[in-house]
Amino acid sequence: GFQGPHVFVLFGASGDLAKKKIYPTLWWLFRDKLLPENTLIIGYARSELNVGDIRKHFEEYCKVRKDDEQQKAAFEEFVNRNTYISGKYDTDEGFISLNNAIEQTEELYKKPAKRLFYLAVPPNVFEPVSAMISKHCMDKGGDAWTRVVIEKPFGHDDVSSKKLSDHLAKLFKEEQIYRIDHYLGKEMVQNLVILRFGNRFISPSWNREHIAAITISFKEDFGTQGRGGYFDESGIIRDVMQNHLMQILTIVAMEKPASLSPEDIRNEKVKVLKCIHPVTEKDIVVGQYTANPNGDNDDSRTGYLEDSQVPKDSITPTFATAVLHVNNERWDGVPFFLRCGKALNERKAEVRIQYKDVAGDIFVEGQLKRDELVIRVQPNEAVYMKLMTKKPGFGFEAEETELDLTYNSRYKNIRLPDAYERLICDLLSGIQYNFVRADELEHAWRIFTPILKTLEEKKTKPHQYIFGSRGPEASDKLMHEHGYIFSGTYKWTPPNKL
Ligand code: BG6
Repeated sequence: GFQGPHVFVLFGASGDLAKKKIYPTLWWLFRDKLLPENTLIIGYARSELNVGDIRKHFEEYCKVRKDDEQQKAAFEEFVNRNTYISGKYDTDEGFISLNNAIEQTEELYKKPAKRLFYLAVPPNVFEPVSAMISKHCMDKGGDAWTRVVIEKPFGHDDVSSKKLSDHLAKLFKEEQIYRIDHYLGKEMVQNLVILRFGNRFISPSWNREHIAAITISFKEDFGTQGRGGYFDESGIIRDVMQNHLMQILTIVAMEKPASLSPEDIRNEKVKVLKCIHPVTEKDIVVGQYTANPNGDNDDSRTGYLEDSQVPKDSITPTFATAVLHVNNERWDGVPFFLRCGKALNERKAEVRIQYKDVAGDIFVEGQLKRDELVIRVQPNEAVYMKLMTKKPGFGFEAEETELDLTYNSRYKNIRLPDAYERLICDLLSGIQYNFVRADELEHAWRIFTPILKTLEEKKTKPHQYIFGSRGPEASDKLMHEHGYIFSGTYKWTPPNKL
């Protein structure tokens, strides 16, 4: 049916995020007919370019099938939906031209356009760009709307983040602001809500009576790959822990929301955050990777401090494990470990719920291991339950095994949409629950700013760990001290790898 025009404005159109993620995502949505009809995409950046140049930037990331004539034709159609405007980020001129371009579309369709502004720009221009949008480019009412999308870094600490939030709040209503945390777009992160609140057998044990520890891990098996400049400004706590891992934590820990409405869900997430004290020095272990002389590529043979963009005396953590407590009736005493690092032994992100020991053990001592429910976010999405069963055959021994829901063996022909595909669809339909509200952000900074300041002021030296290892031993020690038991007796193998 007829839909009024949508205009998707991409600021920072010539940058990395735009070419690697946003343009390709828009193409996939267009290809799969998920982009509203009559969508015009306007790239905006400072460089003097044209659509042809921009296309050259993003085409290689679009994975257009060369052997598929229909798809190639669709891609040309997609490119035709694009236009480009070169302009400054802090002067009126460019934004006036931008608004003129949007108005031309409105004249063509004789309807006010729905306007989405995606700021894929460096954080130092968030403020001028948003101010200019509000001054020159707001929608014309009716059923039209204006939405503004930003991505981290949302400030560098509590003060700068609040400054940005206050600035945005003066220009837009909270319903118009979409803060992306792309982990909220991942299949298994979204699945947490259904697993938790859609299963009678899970809900009664989801508390301090039964759960010993919860670990939320993010591991990458590559380092800075020679681009340590950006990373050194932030470090792993700001880059991953304060946002991606905290978002997962709040969904794991929250009470059941009254409904699935964005405000009900986000209210519950904020309640969890309010129960968490700021992280202190004794709650955290930080690490920094060193070269692995036997590594099989340049990345792994280069230690963090040997990256030419990283200062030789940098104390920026590339690894961190923190223990947090949610001080409420459900979780009192249960440690939540957030563990993240670059240059580790594997790439994976998961949530691991470790249950307490069975009370009144009647089996051979040491045979029973703790049950664990694991939600594997990536790669190889899965939910599996590590549990004890009888060793099959004669005898009566208990052994560890798993109940396994591995997606690519259970759901053979399903393509899981990428996080950005899902989130951009949500943006276009105005579904806000997978975006971060201002107060969530404020609390996340309240929890992490003091420790970031302490580490920086005291110039705390991170523990060294070798590229490709499991990270510093001090991390395992911290977890152990807080009651997590790593038995090491069992390793899950995805069924498709058996
Ligand atoms: C980003 C971080 O937010 O997430 C990167 O800035 C990290 O450092 C990335 O590599 C991981 O995202 P994904 O989707 O590849 O797990």
